[in-house]
Amino acid sequence: VGNLGGAAAQGGRYYGAAVAAGRLGEAAYVAALDQEFSAVTPENEMKWDATEPSRNAFSYGGADQIVNHAVAKGMKVRGHTLVWHSQLPGWVQNLGSATEVRSVMDNHIANVAGHYKGKVFAWDVVNEAFADGGPVGTLRSSVFQQKLGNGFIEEAFRAARVADPGAKLCYNDYNIDDANAAKTQGVYNMVRDFKNRGVPIDCVGLQSHFGQVPGNYQQNIAQFAALGVDVQITELDISGSGTAQADAYRSVTRACLAVARCTGITTWGVTDKYSWRASDTPLLLDGNYGKKAAYYAVLDTL
Ligand code: XIL
Repeated sequence: VGNLGGAAAQGGRYYGAAVAAGRLGEAAYVAALDQEFSAVTPENEMKWDATEPSRNAFSYGGADQIVNHAVAKGMKVRGHTLVWHSQLPGWVQNLGSATEVRSVMDNHIANVAGHYKGKVFAWDVVNEAFADGGPVGTLRSSVFQQKLGNGFIEEAFRAARVADPGAKLCYNDYNIDDANAAKTQGVYNMVRDFKNRGVPIDCVGLQSHFGQVPGNYQQNIAQFAALGVDVQITELDISGSGTAQADAYRSVTRACLAVARCTGITTWGVTDKYSWRASDTPLLLDGNYGKKAAYYAVLDTL
């Protein structure tokens, strides 16, 4: 099979890319997207600052463009993201009480996940809630954590299940790729606890913004999967070029394929040209949409 999405489908998986609505007018961008990928994640268009820039005034223009394109082409859509400390409007950050934060968070989840009900197959319900480093289980500071405490994550997942009962609900983060990292262990413990108590969680998203791929990456994926959740590689990009980059992409692909519950891979962009880390040339297609060594390594491994 001569494209990433088709090759991944042979194993029942998807191969996706983050997409920017503003690039959908560029013919070469759309051609590469449609040729290679079977899933999309809006790179910025579903974030809070885009969807609810002022209180209870929702705007879905950019995200709808991407979703409509994906639906027309039969691609899956990952929703990214409902609750995150970043790209969060000032009006949310300045809310004064727990009651207000809770009702604003619930209203946001109900509206956004409700708008895309039936179209988004998996939501990053909460993104990047854990602090870097230890001690294990430490959450980063945010208006959600400050006003609602650590239970805000569970509250968000419960609200998302009500808003779209058919969507897979994921916890997504970076630096949870190495099984031995304190941050990874904190997320692992949370997922285990959620499963034990019946808090609705279906998947873990490993962002996987890499320089080096951790040596125990496959083991880490397997350990999360063994908790009874799917694992998705959600924002993959790997700095470098040539053979070294190709080898790194091959090892990531192998790690996912080795675990039945690793259900799909998304690269964080279509082309190096528009990557958020463009100077790292971290993607599979170069700035002219040419296929890199890493592309062939992935296609060959899938
Ligand atoms: C990045 C986008 O790629 C940029 O365009 C934007 O300026 C900042 O956010 N983790 C995430 C993504 O979950 O949403 C981030 O995307 C990259 C890191």
